[in-house]
Amino acid sequence: MMIKVKIPATSANMGAGFDCLGIALGLYNYVYAEETDGGLNIEIRDESANYLPTDERNLVYRSMQEVFDRVGYRTAGLHLILENNVPVTRGLGSSSAGIVGGLLAANELCEAGLSADELLDMAARIEGHPDNVAPAILGGITINASSRRKIRHVKAEVPKDLKFAAFVPDFPLPTKKSREILPKSVSLHDAAFNTGRCALLLTSIMTGHYENIRIGVEDRLHQRFRKRLIPHIDDLFRQAYRSGALGVYLSGAGPTVVAIIKAGDKSFEPRMRGYLRRYMNNWRLHILNADNVGAAACKIQMEVN
Ligand code: HSE
Repeated sequence: MMIKVKIPATSANMGAGFDCLGIALGLYNYVYAEETDGGLNIEIRDESANYLPTDERNLVYRSMQEVFDRVGYRTAGLHLILENNVPVTRGLGSSSAGIVGGLLAANELCEAGLSADELLDMAARIEGHPDNVAPAILGGITINASSRRKIRHVKAEVPKDLKFAAFVPDFPLPTKKSREILPKSVSLHDAAFNTGRCALLLTSIMTGHYENIRIGVEDRLHQRFRKRLIPHIDDLFRQAYRSGALGVYLSGAGPTVVAIIKAGDKSFEPRMRGYLRRYMNNWRLHILNADNVGAAACKIQMEVN
């Protein structure tokens, strides 16, 4: 019996919501897992095979072990097939997708029956922060806060008339590096600036006041420091706004940039593709829907080949 898990990409922070806001996007990783008589066999079926480990250090495998250890389950061997469409180390939640994929695969495989909340607490502990793992598990936009080692969260459905343009460069930016450059303290003024905008962003998306999104994504806690690590990013922001974006922000720790656009906007994509071709041809554009469902695991009969 094979387990299949589908896990969405995620975009954390959304500008003002540093470490507390995230959204699930319609770009997916797949984990296939089955028990075997012995050993560990991990196949990665995309170019991330060139740099992700396929032994006990693999994040999907390590996350599966967390579930097995928690419920006292032992496997003789495991066969995993990983299809990674979420670009690695680009700010679209690839490590969260790996963690969530592993946790859900193991939960289904050994019928551990762990709830979404339990899986979320485990995932946030492994990842170190909850803002990518929450939308990866639950879908939609999630708002979360850690309290007494538990993640308090709310999921909101993303309106269907919004789309998300993800601009992904050909270079990675490790989250560790992108966090190390942040200041250790911020002014009361900057904290208040972000608090108000985060609330404005969320309520404006939920109530259809899309004219507020541009202000709502503004941030003073992380983006200006991180932008220094990403060449020509201010030009990209400016061009996206000129082309009709409702709001533009650095996705997670970067370097991906996400522009929120109206679903009916016909000119944004061709204009931005033209711009990238001319001035930033090491960047790729993916026009994505939000994912309001989140990660899902099921048993499948068929052979995967
Ligand atoms: N909230 C985190 C950060 C997301 O901005 O560092 C990183 O994946």
